[in-house]
Amino acid sequence: MSSLVSYSSERLGRLHDDAERIVADPAVAVATQSIRERSGAGSEMLGWLDLPSKRDDLSRLIDTATSLREEIDTLVVIGIGGSYLGARAVLEATAWRRDGGPTVFFAGHHLEGQELGRLLKSLEGREVAVNVISKSGTTTEPAIAFRLLRKFLEDTYGPEKAAKRIVATTDAQRGALRTLADQKDYVTFAVPDDVGGRFSVLTPVGLFPLAVAGCDVQALLDGAAAEAARCLEGDAAQVPAVRYAALRHAAHLQGSAVEVLASFFPSLHSIAEWWKQLFGESEGKQGRGLFPAAVDYTTDLHSMGQYLQDGRRILVETFVDVADPPAGPVIPSDADDLDGLEYLAGRTVDAVNREALPAVADAHGDGGVPCQVITLPDATEASVGSLLFFFEFAVAVSGRLLGVNPFDQPGVEAYKTNLFRRLGKPGFAD
Ligand code: PA5
Repeated sequence: MSSLVSYSSERLGRLHDDAERIVADPAVAVATQSIRERSGAGSEMLGWLDLPSKRDDLSRLIDTATSLREEIDTLVVIGIGGSYLGARAVLEATAWRRDGGPTVFFAGHHLEGQELGRLLKSLEGREVAVNVISKSGTTTEPAIAFRLLRKFLEDTYGPEKAAKRIVATTDAQRGALRTLADQKDYVTFAVPDDVGGRFSVLTPVGLFPLAVAGCDVQALLDGAAAEAARCLEGDAAQVPAVRYAALRHAAHLQGSAVEVLASFFPSLHSIAEWWKQLFGESEGKQGRGLFPAAVDYTTDLHSMGQYLQDGRRILVETFVDVADPPAGPVIPSDADDLDGLEYLAGRTVDAVNREALPAVADAHGDGGVPCQVITLPDATEASVGSLLFFFEFAVAVSGRLLGVNPFDQPGVEAYKTNLFRRLGKPGFAD
């Protein structure tokens, strides 16, 4: 299938031989097999493996999204972490595919009052719907945003119409949001028990807001399914996501501390944000794991470029490229050439961008940074779906190689509990 992403380790430099050795190590096949067979630590949270082909509730989801879309001009998606990053990532990466449709705002992912106030103000006079997403149904940031947005909807449209403009995505049975949604008779979608927040983009957590926005969610799932087929069968050493996981492990063993995900496409910025959560929460435990950092090129070459080129050699750099990006403008000719740019006249901006990746990879490689490239054929929903599953499978194998449970997040819970205690939530006092 043409939407599959590809992985190249040609520029790994000093890590190349180590990575090849680790790919061939039986431990990699064992780690891959444990995910395929659903065994090992956290195996009860492997429901994401089935999501690309599991389409039980998909027609209700698409029907609900389609009729809501006809009524509104604005969708506010409330959620944090795994309950918003995936939708935002896909939405931004594929924005060029949509013309019209509701404006999408994200809320509930921070606690800055003025920002929330500004959002509420900007909603006045619009036809607004809210999709509130929280697996636990108790997270502070989205709960506060939802209380404010709910009041806005009820004050603006009255309680009955407001209830029709709210869709809740949460646990099928538990949590405050489930109780509230049932009492108020909101349309709801369930987050499966066996899928953690950061693996939930292909559940209604990601799919519902994407469908309202006009994304082709079937194509997203098809792309993920194609990648899943590649990951779940055959010789592990030939699976690109496994090879990427092995490289990360080689880097970790050699003392690297940071993996920098770099793309030359601002539209992929939120893909990197999603990736940071996926790898950070899955691997950052027991004092282990590469710190996942991200840069936007060429912008950050003018701020972080110096460190990448010449700072502490604790980095590996992973480029996310798009082979056939959406077309942009051509650089116009100007006979005066006062800006000295005539040598670029007639080329597209993207053609200039295309030269930047090898220029940077060569420079950073010369500076001692092992580089690797993951390439999407294009920025369609199918290719993005393939990329999402690629990273999910890779982090599962990588976590196994690292000897951690890649499917829990005890550190996130610690912060949530501390905040409840400091705020005086009943049941959480000292
Ligand atoms: O991965 C995780 O578990 C977290 O990042 C959650 O996604 C995040 O804290 C939001 O949790 P919830 O969906 O329960 O509100």
